[in-house]
Amino acid sequence: MSITDPKNLQSALDWRYATKKFDPSRRIPSDVWKALEASLVMAPSSYGLQPFKFIVLTDPKLREQIKTASWNQAQVTDCSHYVVFAIRKDMGEDWVDQFLARTAEVRGTPLESLSGYKQYMMGDLVNGPRAAVVNDWAARQAYIAFGTLMLAAAVLGVDACPIEGMIPAKVDEILGLGDQGLASVCACALGYRLESDKYATLPKVRFPVETLVEYR
Ligand SMILES: Cc1cc2nc3c(=O)[nH]c(=O)nc-3n(C[C@H](O)[C@H](O)[C@H](O)COP(=O)(O)O)c2cc1C
Repeated sequence: MSITDPKNLQSALDWRYATKKFDPSRRIPSDVWKALEASLVMAPSSYGLQPFKFIVLTDPKLREQIKTASWNQAQVTDCSHYVVFAIRKDMGEDWVDQFLARTAEVRGTPLESLSGYKQYMMGDLVNGPRAAVVNDWAARQAYIAFGTLMLAAAVLGVDACPIEGMIPAKVDEILGLGDQGLASVCACALGYRLESDKYATLPKVRFPVETLVEYR
């Protein structure tokens, strides 16, 4: 079967589930992790602004602390890689400028030619009507990367548990995110399931396709 065979996607979607029990002895190999990391970096975002940062926790002591701020969920400490999704709080002109400088560098275009694009973004998200909700906008962008990572994991046979069950303010305090102008929104545990995890075999509860998808 080729990678583009729809059956492969269906079987990855059927195979994945929100993993409750990870095998603490299994680690994601580095080449697989690099591909998952790429799924975060390559995730699309509004205007391409990437108003987020992904903090990958490897330190067991830090993970213990994060667990206490995450409803004591065992996934935090038992998984192989634990990713905290943070937004760049109150994104302003400075970040827009950094993004434009990067665009000019990557595409070899003069910065001046991007001034119209800058005004457009500033007039929308920094000085415009959406400035008041820029952190909600940023969180939506982070969630796109969150979904991209989970699908990538499923395709690569890596188990994942999306985690919103946490106290973001506590997570921020433990990781010192506020000082970096960041704020956590969600997290994802990644690794390999234990055979004893009963959730793996429970039938998936989804509304019928007609309830969720409408054709016009
Ligand atoms: C945004 C989001 C947050 C979630 N937070 C948690 C969580 O904190 N702990 C947990 O065990 N599962 C969490 N889940 C898993 C959901 O309960 C699960 O995805 C849903 O019940 C569907 O089951 P399935 O993913 O196994 O198909 C979360 C899922 C999403 C998408």
